[in-house]
Amino acid sequence: MVGYQFMGKMHSHAYRDIPFFFDPKVKPVLQAISGRNESAVKEAAEKMGWASYETDWRRLIERDDIDVIDIVTPNHTHAEIAIAAAEAGKHIITEKPLALTVEEAERMYEAVKKANVTHMICHNYRFVPAVQYARKLIEEGRLGRIFHVRANYLQDFIIDPSFPLVWRLKKEVSGSGALGDIGAHSIDLARFLVGDFKELVSTMETFVKERPIGEMSGGLSAKAEGDEMGEVTVDDATCFLARFENGALGVFEATRFAGGNRNKNKFEINGEKGSIRWDMENMNNLEVYFADDEPGLQGFRLINVTEEVHPYVGAYWPAGHIIGYEHSFIHLLYEFLNGIVEGTSPKPNFEDGVINQKILAAVEKSAETKQWITL
Ligand SMILES: NC(=O)c1ccc[n+]([C@@H]2O[C@H](COP(=O)([O-])OP(=O)(O)OC[C@H]3O[C@@H](n4cnc5c(N)ncnc54)[C@H](O)[C@@H]3O)[C@@H](O)[C@H]2O)c1
Repeated sequence: MVGYQFMGKMHSHAYRDIPFFFDPKVKPVLQAISGRNESAVKEAAEKMGWASYETDWRRLIERDDIDVIDIVTPNHTHAEIAIAAAEAGKHIITEKPLALTVEEAERMYEAVKKANVTHMICHNYRFVPAVQYARKLIEEGRLGRIFHVRANYLQDFIIDPSFPLVWRLKKEVSGSGALGDIGAHSIDLARFLVGDFKELVSTMETFVKERPIGEMSGGLSAKAEGDEMGEVTVDDATCFLARFENGALGVFEATRFAGGNRNKNKFEINGEKGSIRWDMENMNNLEVYFADDEPGLQGFRLINVTEEVHPYVGAYWPAGHIIGYEHSFIHLLYEFLNGIVEGTSPKPNFEDGVINQKILAAVEKSAETKQWITL
């Protein structure tokens, strides 16, 4: 694993829990973790259960006792690490977004195809049981023809103008702001649930244009380094409209300025026979409405997606004994491990990462040109 903070902790935890709850076709061995600061990476290795550490990711790639590279570093590092890992024949899981640009993303996809290794991108929200179940209902035709997808991903952790200029706010490190950090998840969910995008039109805004220099300090917290200010070079908020190949219309909003919304990743899908709503802050629940319900009893019903018949949750606790954010990563990495044994790259993989990156690029281009963009 390369990196050991927010997502490093998340993936480390998931690998440890997978064989506890599931029977993967291969068991992960936490062999080595890398980071640039020796004392910090040593401490992380001990705490999270890694057998050894390196202070340069290139050393991980050279090692014969490592089969998988897990990339949990900022976005500008993904391409170089993934391409080097593929050339060394390692299987790869990388955090999202795949890269900074479409060109980089395509090179990464070419490299994994050429090396014939298993690859996945970590759009974990697909693996929330309620979201998997929503997909099943849509696939079974329970909503009929889809008319609308309405997706908002709302956070509020950078509203305070004294929140520092961390890597997430620098275009050369992150690619884009709210768009690539959280909007990319909504795009992936819409592709998973509704289908492929056809065209879109967007607008983007940066509300706070300068911030004190600083760095992330775990989770979504950060520390300023002093009084020196720097320019914010990404969007604070992005909104866009889309048309899908199947004729559905989409309305999307990604912002880190929606006060009171800590991680409100939500969607509503309306079809001719019914509707579905989901919200990450109540992630075990799915709201469903079916137009053929008896008159007088019509309306959204609330399903607690924790029954044995629901995806993944049968591996945990009795119905109603709910699960959390970290479980979405357990499910995704469980599929990744099985993919390695089966010689497949479960979705979402680098191909999905490239398509997602093209949509991110189209959103940026549309905001700049004030035109609809065809994908
Ligand atoms: N799937 C999700 O829901 C989700 C959530 C958060 C972050 N992410 C993604 O995960 C990745 C990491 O985000 P994070 O929140 O864990 O970041 P973070 O700032 O908490 O941790 C980044 C880690 O990378 C290391 N690092 C930074 N620059 C490096 C470099 N040049 N070379 C080697 N190591 C370097 C840091 O020391 C740290 O260990 C990003 O791509 C981000 O978009 C995904």
